Amino acid sequence: PQPGWAETTDVVVVGSGVAGLTAALHLREAGLHVTVVTKVNIDDGSTRWAQGGIAAVFDPYDTPAAHAEDTLVAGVGLCDPAAVDVLVNEGPARVRELMRWGAEFDRNADGSLMLTREGGHHANRIVHAGGDATGAEVQRALHAAVRRDPWIRLFEHALVLDLLRDAAGRACGVTLHVLGEGSEDGVGAVLGRAVVLATGGMGQVYAVTTNPVVSTGDGVALALRAGAAVTDLEFVQFHPTALVTGAASAQQPLVSEALRGEGAYLRDGDGKRFMVGQHDLAELAPRDVVAKGIHRVMLAEGSANVWLDARHLGAEFLEARFPTIMTSCRAAGIEPTTDLIPVAPAAHYASGGVRTDLRGRTSIPGLYACGEVACTGVHGANRLASNSLLEGLVFARRIATDIAADLPPQTEPVTGDAPQWAVDPAVRQPLQQAMSRGAGVLRSATSLDEVAATLTRLGTERAPSDTASWEAANLVTIAAALVAAAACRQETRGCHWRDDFPITDEAWCGHLLATVTDTGVL
Ligand code: SIN
Repeated sequence: PQPGWAETTDVVVVGSGVAGLTAALHLREAGLHVTVVTKVNIDDGSTRWAQGGIAAVFDPYDTPAAHAEDTLVAGVGLCDPAAVDVLVNEGPARVRELMRWGAEFDRNADGSLMLTREGGHHANRIVHAGGDATGAEVQRALHAAVRRDPWIRLFEHALVLDLLRDAAGRACGVTLHVLGEGSEDGVGAVLGRAVVLATGGMGQVYAVTTNPVVSTGDGVALALRAGAAVTDLEFVQFHPTALVTGAASAQQPLVSEALRGEGAYLRDGDGKRFMVGQHDLAELAPRDVVAKGIHRVMLAEGSANVWLDARHLGAEFLEARFPTIMTSCRAAGIEPTTDLIPVAPAAHYASGGVRTDLRGRTSIPGLYACGEVACTGVHGANRLASNSLLEGLVFARRIATDIAADLPPQTEPVTGDAPQWAVDPAVRQPLQQAMSRGAGVLRSATSLDEVAATLTRLGTERAPSDTASWEAANLVTIAAALVAAAACRQETRGCHWRDDFPITDEAWCGHLLATVTDTGVL
């Protein structure tokens, strides 16, 4: 679609979670004008749903090297050690910065930060807020800081369609579909001297996910269309413990790993603690190990869930420390002080995404990526718990520094890579079901072939252009890329679990580059 209007800024930031808002604030500190565009409302992304916290070394007995070691082990050989080094060493300063912007974290009686533990960590290094409402506090503080700055322009209800590039191939803006604004079809453009993608994740390619409805992989789809390097899409992390409510819902409530970090147990249908003996950290093994353990029990029992036992933690502690989880359990008729909590794995986090270097630069000059949409190299084959908000904070600042150091003049767009076709939004549900069946926690060549065929068929269900049909086109594009990568990787590593290739094979210790054709199918 051709833009009916255009406006110009210094830097266009696409997305309004921890990565996008932090980048915007740092860019403003560097004296640049910023426009933040976001698909629905400013607070509607994944950040506000984060429960556990932010991993960063504040305990004097802990070290960044120990945090790096846990991150590298969780990533099963595919982390970039230099990126991990940056993450763990710069993390504490970025968390302090967040506190200066107004975020309030939980504290001990002596005023020190209260630290908890989650899967894969060998130390208590996770700061949290409101007990289990860390993301909500981070989003609140960043939102307020952005609103305080009159020079940050915010475009809500604006779905990004297309990366605009100049004659030299440099990113110089984006086109948007803005609901209720602009030309007849609502398509306009924001031009800038650099573009930061911070669009979040893609959990909505699955039927069961902890991600909000807006997480449709728009940034990865845009990057694929533009030919940017996109890697590691097969490494979708399944959170071991989403609440099983029995209700059909686009987003499942999370039951934070911090609950296991504070001592809750996983039990099978016979009441046995099945993770004991499977890993030296038992229920606190890295997330992929626990998700696999749960999936095996569910397959063996033919059950839809296992059980989380928090009863021994006591009512007073549970109310104070986990108010969000208590509320979602009670809304589903479960009383965690006396009942076992039914839980099962759910799609939670894209460890892969748009490949960047240590300054957040993608393979397209002028295009940066930050947060879940990015693949900075810190997560490898499986992200360590509570490293995601941290990654957004750390790399957003690096991006702002890089942009401010070398900002080129504004150039004229000559090309765009907008979707040439939109897909009937009615395909969304069958796509999600096919993905959960064939490309979920456990995959095989047969299951992946089946889902690939379904995606090819669903991708031909064309529809007139509007926000929902462009979103559906994005879902088809990224699902096809994810399935192709998962089919290609003939091994089991981290959160990529192949029934037909159960061994981690050193020959596969590398990254797969995703590409896309103009029909959206690889
Ligand atoms: C959780 O609280 O269990 C989720 C934390 C994360 O995804 O890192």
